[in-house]
Amino acid sequence: MIISLFNSKGGVGKTTTCVNLAYLTSLKYKTLLIDLDTQGASSYFFDKKIKKRNLLNKNPLKIIKETQYPNLDIIPADIKFEEYKKGLEKIINQDYDFVFIDAPANLNKLTKDIVKFSDIIIIPALPNILSLRTYNQIVSLKLNNNLKLLLNRVENSDIHKKVIKAVMKLPKNQYFRNYIPKSDIIENMPFDKKPAVTKSEKIKKAYMNVLREII
Ligand SMILES: Nc1ncnc2c1ncn2[C@@H]1O[C@H](COP(=O)(O)OP(=O)(O)OP(=O)(O)O)[C@@H](O)[C@H]1O
Ligand SMILES: [Mg+2]
Repeated sequence: MIISLFNSKGGVGKTTTCVNLAYLTSLKYKTLLIDLDTQGASSYFFDKKIKKRNLLNKNPLKIIKETQYPNLDIIPADIKFEEYKKGLEKIINQDYDFVFIDAPANLNKLTKDIVKFSDIIIIPALPNILSLRTYNQIVSLKLNNNLKLLLNRVENSDIHKKVIKAVMKLPKNQYFRNYIPKSDIIENMPFDKKPAVTKSEKIKKAYMNVLREII
């Protein structure tokens, strides 16, 4: 199963969600994370540097790296990915149970093509009404028929409750019933350099519930 994380808005939780969900699935399944964002934020969590390789004749399997976690491999960000579409496509078809793709906020041609392969695109979004507008704009790009909105950084406030209500007016297959709460542990992830799900049962449960809606 190929799962992409995408939103044309930056800073909404694409990387955070990608890292936590990939880690959780790797506890049971062979999982690969592809960092398509040249900023390399997902790579950072697994101590991998952004690469600038001459990829043209490279064996696709050689660009996959192991992480510190068993069953979780990563393809670190590479600014030359643009010229490596065929290789990436080959890898996506390799024998992983789950492939997670951390997509950049700006959709280039490569990202568009790779995202098309996905079985599902998770669109993390901050809980405000303008996020729903962006979500509708993404839907109209027709990247993929299976797009699902995931509310992230949700607090127990009246405003956020209103946004949840508005989201629930979307067709049921277009949003996750579960959402990710705002959490200091998640915010601290870049300092800890560890998936937040390893630090808190409550956070683990939140991401598990999201995962259960798709697998
Ligand atoms: N549920 C949450 N609670 C608190 N902080 C969060 C939560 N989700 C994400 N953050 C924080 O928000 C910031 C942005 O998250 P993240 O990097 O995952 O977004 P992104 O969509 O990948 O951004 P970019 O578009 O720059 O790639 C990070 O500092 C992260 O720690
Ligand atoms: Mg990111």
